[in-house]
Amino acid sequence: MNCNIAVIKGDGIGPEVVTQAMKVLDAVGEKYGHTFCYEQLLMGGCSIDAHGVPLTDEAVAKAKASDAVLLGSIGGNTSTSPWYKLPPDKRPEAGLLKIRKELGLFANLRPAYLYEQLKAACPLKEEIADKGFDMMIMRELTGGLYFGQRKTEEIDGVLTAVDTLTYNENEIRRIAIKGFDIAMKRRKKVTSVDKANVLDSSRLWRKVVEEVAKDYPEVTYEHMLVDNCAMQLVKDPAQFDVVLTENMFGDILSDEASMITGSIGMLASASLNETKFGMYEPSGGSAPDIAGQNKANPIATILSAAMMLRYTFDLDKEADAIENAVKQVLVEGWRTCDIVSDATKLVACDEMGDLIKERI
Ligand code: IPM
Ligand code: MG
Repeated sequence: MNCNIAVIKGDGIGPEVVTQAMKVLDAVGEKYGHTFCYEQLLMGGCSIDAHGVPLTDEAVAKAKASDAVLLGSIGGNTSTSPWYKLPPDKRPEAGLLKIRKELGLFANLRPAYLYEQLKAACPLKEEIADKGFDMMIMRELTGGLYFGQRKTEEIDGVLTAVDTLTYNENEIRRIAIKGFDIAMKRRKKVTSVDKANVLDSSRLWRKVVEEVAKDYPEVTYEHMLVDNCAMQLVKDPAQFDVVLTENMFGDILSDEASMITGSIGMLASASLNETKFGMYEPSGGSAPDIAGQNKANPIATILSAAMMLRYTFDLDKEADAIENAVKQVLVEGWRTCDIVSDATKLVACDEMGDLIKERI
């Protein structure tokens, strides 16, 4: 198979971790007879430096013309980087929001799974970690607060900021259908997370989810308030299968879920539209504090590449090969600094990439 991949290495640790994922993909290509052609695009701070904007229309067009996008991370230190002196719509994050919207990537899948070998890195109590967990956070990605109208103005001499949270029933229905479809391939449970005791958008969310649920009689579903969900994630994460939620709640809950896997450096993600096209990226940020030091954990990005093989290219066996290689490396005790503990062996970012590549 010939796969045309737009690669956006981005800022911070992005270039280091994406390079490792490309190395692993090339090993897969060699072993299973596929060709991965990469076209590198700029987005985020590096695009601001080169073109004055976080994402050019030309880069969007090239991403659209590819089969899939592999992304590292964007952004810098929000207190010190000059990128954050620019107006909000010219900052690195605006590029990410723009590409999600332009490519129609409304469904963000963030799998949080506790590897047996990483239980020591899990910050939860032993009796909770021992039960393990395996959940898929389904985050709506192109609506809600992050895309609503916003402004800051002075009203009667007082600075006032407004952000708007809007969802229509179609936006809710399509993500709910994705959530239930994924649940059918997993343990057939959906927890729909909202704040229906306060927000109108959440009451509509609940109503539409209930309608969609009728088409999936085999799936058990429940509603959970977001504050309770934040608590349940640390109290009893094993209860979750698919966690279906809107944009901002998903942003927050997925960081929490990633941390209980041991490190945010372990959490892969896929952002999908209605077709096979997808953008694949680690859920963690650009980690400017450790950028360029060959210290970052490339596993989330490598697992994102596996998701790309599975969801865009239907290469399940090849995706399994990557996931198994990651497991094997962990079983053998190799760790980057974010997940290292006693009796394990510390390796750098590129060494971790090599170890996984060698086990394909
Ligand atoms: C994420 C990130 C982004 C988001 C930021 C960088 C805009 O936190 O992918 O979770 O909030 O979606
Ligand atoms: Mg986030």
